[in-house]
Amino acid sequence: MAIDDIRSSMRSNEEIIGRSDLDDAEAILAITTLDETATVHAVADHADAIFTWDYEKGARPALSKLYEKAKTSQWNGETDLPWDTAVDPEQAVREQNAAMNPGAESLVPPFDTTGTPLASWGEAEYLALGMEMQNHLLSQFMHGEQGALLCTAKIVETVPWIDAKYYAATQVVDEARHVEVFAKYLDTKLAGHYPVNAHLRMLLDDIIEDSRWDMTYLGMQIMVEGLALAAFGMMHQTTSEPLLKQLLRYVMSDEARHVAFGVLSLKEYYAELSASELRERQEFAFEAAVRMRDRFLQQEVWQRLDIDVAPLIPILRQDPGRILFQQLLFSKIVPNCKKLGLLDAGAPAGGKGWLRERFEEMDVIQFEDMVDTGEEYEALDAVAADRATAGA
Ligand SMILES: [Fe+2]
Ligand SMILES: [Fe+2]
Repeated sequence: MAIDDIRSSMRSNEEIIGRSDLDDAEAILAITTLDETATVHAVADHADAIFTWDYEKGARPALSKLYEKAKTSQWNGETDLPWDTAVDPEQAVREQNAAMNPGAESLVPPFDTTGTPLASWGEAEYLALGMEMQNHLLSQFMHGEQGALLCTAKIVETVPWIDAKYYAATQVVDEARHVEVFAKYLDTKLAGHYPVNAHLRMLLDDIIEDSRWDMTYLGMQIMVEGLALAAFGMMHQTTSEPLLKQLLRYVMSDEARHVAFGVLSLKEYYAELSASELRERQEFAFEAAVRMRDRFLQQEVWQRLDIDVAPLIPILRQDPGRILFQQLLFSKIVPNCKKLGLLDAGAPAGGKGWLRERFEEMDVIQFEDMVDTGEEYEALDAVAADRATAGA
């Protein structure tokens, strides 16, 4: 396809994400979770299960190495975490606030809330809000982990390479363990679950519905897991609660492998794709990035508190802690997209690539040269590190 043909088939922001202005609060809030009471949700996955008769193990050495690593770094969510720890959810909120707003002594934010439902709020109300937010955040981690469980089971079926099937099978076990430990933490240490966020569910549905095996990788391994790795890293740094800290440390050591699996596999596959095929991947990455950003408005929390959040959004957007958190969430995604060639694929000579411009619009392009996650998993393997210490 010639460059001109690609240009004419390009979709606008409106066609990709349903709105032209990224910050259109009304459009973001119009997407809601529809059926909160159902216990199951069916999505058609539109894919053939692929057998391969090429059993040559190690034909892709980097994937084979990852598979061997995964086998030796398994852990047990029931017995390797200190579940007897007494957890104080209020303490967690205060620590999070102190980390995101250095120097702040109060949970009451420094900006003007006059004329909003928050005008009369004091320390107690913000503490209650913080606990809801924490609960919502960890619940979305849990739902995202189930998304990863289903996606990697799908990858086992659809990827045509034996080394990738082997590796993905280990990831299925990892993701089962992650769903298990987040659910247990919410049920036994916090106040139970929030339903899946509307934007996260929409994204997970889009990823599962796509028939192309590499889109499962891009959506899950690069975008959702890249964001999770950054979010877990921030939470791990800011919490001193020993159970959550250890849980996140072990989950991250698995997640670093998962993102590496995505980067290593797609790097090979994208080398064969045409400019128009790469453009579809760029658009999918952008759509995923926007859905994940929208999810951090945490609209279900405001609904539960029976507060109309729309008039609050301009105020919430001034919160420096929130701005920093939202940007840092993309600190793994942007360098990984760069490594895959997605930032600048199809760029006119001397010009910027389409995805680079979108990430500029989202104010996250500054992360492009941070470490990518192709090799980071060795350094993040906390399970192996603990075993080496215990055996020394
Ligand atoms: Fe996971
Ligand atoms: Fe994962």
